[in-house]
Amino acid sequence: MQYQTTSANPVRRRSACAIVGVFKDGKFGAAAAAFDDASRGALTRLVKDGEVTGAAGEAHLIPAPEGIAAARVLVVGCGPRDRFDDKAYRAAVSAAVARLSRTRLKDAMWTLSADGVDGVDPYYLGRQSAETAAAAVYRFDEQKGKTAGPKVRLETITAIADTRASANRLLEGLRDGDGVAAGIRFTRDLANRSPNVCHPTHMAQEARRLAARHKRLEVEILSAAQMKKLGMGALLSVAQGSEQPPRLIVLRYRGAAASQAPVVLVGKAITFDTGGISLKPPPNMDEMKFDMGGGGAVLGTLAAIAELGPKTNVIGVVPACENMPSGRATRPGDIVTSMSGQTIEVLNTDAEGRMILCDALTYSRRFKPAAIVDVATLTGACVIALGNQYTAVFSHSDDLARSLLEAGDRVGDPAWRMPVNDEYGESLKSNFADFANVGAREGGSSVAAAFLSRFTEGLNWAHLDIAGSAWKGGREKGSTGRPVSLLTEFVLSRC
Ligand code: BES
Ligand code: MN
Ligand code: ZN
Repeated sequence: MQYQTTSANPVRRRSACAIVGVFKDGKFGAAAAAFDDASRGALTRLVKDGEVTGAAGEAHLIPAPEGIAAARVLVVGCGPRDRFDDKAYRAAVSAAVARLSRTRLKDAMWTLSADGVDGVDPYYLGRQSAETAAAAVYRFDEQKGKTAGPKVRLETITAIADTRASANRLLEGLRDGDGVAAGIRFTRDLANRSPNVCHPTHMAQEARRLAARHKRLEVEILSAAQMKKLGMGALLSVAQGSEQPPRLIVLRYRGAAASQAPVVLVGKAITFDTGGISLKPPPNMDEMKFDMGGGGAVLGTLAAIAELGPKTNVIGVVPACENMPSGRATRPGDIVTSMSGQTIEVLNTDAEGRMILCDALTYSRRFKPAAIVDVATLTGACVIALGNQYTAVFSHSDDLARSLLEAGDRVGDPAWRMPVNDEYGESLKSNFADFANVGAREGGSSVAAAFLSRFTEGLNWAHLDIAGSAWKGGREKGSTGRPVSLLTEFVLSRC
């Protein structure tokens, strides 16, 4: 999408369609009031007729009344005025763009940005607008025989700001948001792709394509033989049951001097999780194609960062493999040696995410990270605890946890802090190895985090469990692209 901003009077600006917001019970903000005045009460009449109520989600497309320079007016419902927060703002963007995507209109003018949202800087209004608009037109139909529905025609959006200064901030936000949206799209496409297509080698190829597109990105792909040399016994124990070879993808973004310590993002990429010999039950097992969501989000974040070009260093480390049962698969009871030297008794082969992450975390020490954040669809317990609203954040560092939570809040990709300490690790005790890969069921997400913390001693580390936030089930089944937006904002906020 192309974006422009202006602080000129929207009433007198020509465009194919002016988008005007009306609040619940027909209340007008400043922009709507201006349109109503200029059109001698045309909006007021629509409200009186009961055609427009201002309820959230409402969208009426009408020919522009006399007095308005635009050709059409799209009236979108914004819900109660006193509850108009960034979430309601995003819902209005979504409703407007969804309505326009069913037309052939190529350009539109967005006026709600002039009214703004209390407490939200115009930059973040822009970020959220662009990300939401992109999400509203996202389709995944590359694996359908006949593509459903017409192509989206909307190309240009002009957003109105109240002052010159805020028009500039708004434009910055819209452009950055559009770059982040490209990263989110990349992540969603990767995760939505069927698991026979999106396997570890495919993910590695996609990382290579990203690196070929952006000159500040560099990629290195490690093979099973290289992992073996490095002593990654935990990662390889997961991969060994599959016909698909594992890959360790290292994608580096160089935006600052090599002397500046990087942020390292580590993403779990199980391209399909059957559970292994500890086989999962059939219902919804197809959704385990999304178990590469952490790795997908890390690659998508690097894609977004490369678009935005900040002066900082970021490295993505993505262990990718399949978790399959077979004659060569790891058995419950097998003991493996991780790259850290610690031995692990595999009591449940379905707790595979932590097995691949622990070696990827140990590997990442070589980059001497300023901060290291792993991202994983790690535990079903996290879905039970937080649903799909929040990403879970685990960290020993209050500062790191806070900056992740705040980053998520600013961009509408929210996270919630959960506890991690070694009390949760006590149940990982093993009679035969240094510890086991599973412990108590109770507090399962924190037990998994405690497992990982045994490999992050001395690092400025946080763990994000995205088992709930990375995808939606049911009728709207599909990847959400979270937490690309949070991670990108986190990286930008450190510059
Ligand atoms: N990928 C799953 C976690 C998951 C489950 C994410 C459901 C989203 C929805 C992970 O590999 C897993 O199987 N975890 C087990 C761990 C258990 C064996 C300790 C789980 O949560 O049941
Ligand atoms: Mn599993
Ligand atoms: Zn898994």
